[in-house]
Amino acid sequence: MASVKTVALLGATGSIGAQTLDVLRQESDAFDLVAIAGGEQLTQLAAIAREFHVRHVGVTNEAHRATLSNELGPDVHIVVGAAGLTELSQRADVVVNAVLGFAGLPVTLTALQCGKRLALANKESLIAAAPLVAAARSTPDASLLPIDSEHCAIHQCLASSPAREGYPDVRRLLLTASGGPFRGWSRSALAAATKEDALNHPTWSMGAKITIDSSTLMNKGLEVLEASALFGIEVDRVDVVVHPQSIVHSMVEYVDGSILAQLSRPDMRLPIAYCLGMPERLDHRWGALDFTSALELSFEPPDLDAFPAIALAYEAARLGGAAPAWLSAANEVAVAAFLADQIRWSAIVDVVARVMDGYVADPLASLDDLIANDATARRRAHGIVGS
Ligand SMILES: NC(=O)c1ccc[n+]([C@@H]2O[C@H](COP(=O)([O-])OP(=O)(O)OC[C@H]3O[C@@H](n4cnc5c(N)ncnc54)[C@H](OP(=O)(O)O)[C@@H]3O)[C@@H](O)[C@H]2O)c1
Repeated sequence: MASVKTVALLGATGSIGAQTLDVLRQESDAFDLVAIAGGEQLTQLAAIAREFHVRHVGVTNEAHRATLSNELGPDVHIVVGAAGLTELSQRADVVVNAVLGFAGLPVTLTALQCGKRLALANKESLIAAAPLVAAARSTPDASLLPIDSEHCAIHQCLASSPAREGYPDVRRLLLTASGGPFRGWSRSALAAATKEDALNHPTWSMGAKITIDSSTLMNKGLEVLEASALFGIEVDRVDVVVHPQSIVHSMVEYVDGSILAQLSRPDMRLPIAYCLGMPERLDHRWGALDFTSALELSFEPPDLDAFPAIALAYEAARLGGAAPAWLSAANEVAVAAFLADQIRWSAIVDVVARVMDGYVADPLASLDDLIANDATARRRAHGIVGS
């Protein structure tokens, strides 16, 4: 039997966190959860620590540390903030980054710099820090496996391709998009979209931020940047195809016209298990398709006029440097403002566009540079939201 792999699950109390825990429960002989971290849901974090006998727990501030220390007792080592995430990211063979947003950056960088397997759900850190992540990936033994279902699908499709830099035998990557809750809506209907409408995703159940990103199609824009950074393929060879059933999770088109796709029912446990089990596939029916009844698959181009977020993402990719970090930071602020009822749905992408209009070219030479750029983009986005 293969040896037990230790796992750190950072962002344990969220949607990806819950589904990762489900995989770990069913694979308790193969994996040992040794470290967890979360944000505000302390009762849930403590319950996970107890259930899995976790001895290393990360929280976001000193008050949370005091609360959890009382709850869990002296045998549990509690760490705080970004430094805590950095420490926990060194503690396991596999580090699952399921933290939300730019706060996940220390996890991505540390896991790779320490030669760990990084199972990455947190796309924002990769998008913002692409050049820094690229350097960290060259650490001996470091590996990066994508949990995002589209990128996990592409990873599987590319397995049939010789791993040559830039994949010269690949014509393009085809990222599928469900189209979100507003597929087919006119611009005037979109102007009246509510929070309830936006949170009502047709095929996936996810955290609030990515659900809103899916409604604006910014999620797909971010995924274009993510695919380019992950596979080293320029964005002009990454296309988006709307596929409302969310069965084909993405495709790779080769130069001879062949297209390879990965199919399953929408269930995040499948890509999570793929990233944990690699090179073995874990034996479960998650996502399995039933071909005994009719199954319809349809594809259509995205409506780029109604959903300008996709074009903004391509533009940020072409600008390079810190532009993707600005895009992602501005989007985080705008989505949080929408969820807090401070702006309308239709203003989310407007805020991002206005921040990007003021982008000042920066090659993104260092981590300090990235943090400064992130802060500038956030400040500008807050300014626009407040005006
Ligand atoms: N959900 C999906 O199906 C899906 C699919 C593909 C990719 N992703 C990506 O996966 C990431 C997580 O998404 P999600 O849907 O799971 O989000 P979510 O449900 O909102 O969960 C986010 C997690 O991050 C934690 N967190 C927030 N701020 C933190 C901080 N400063 N330090 C430590 N932990 C912090 C939250 O803790 P509390 O809840 O305790 O506050 C929670 O555990 C995102 O980058 C998303 O784009 C998600």
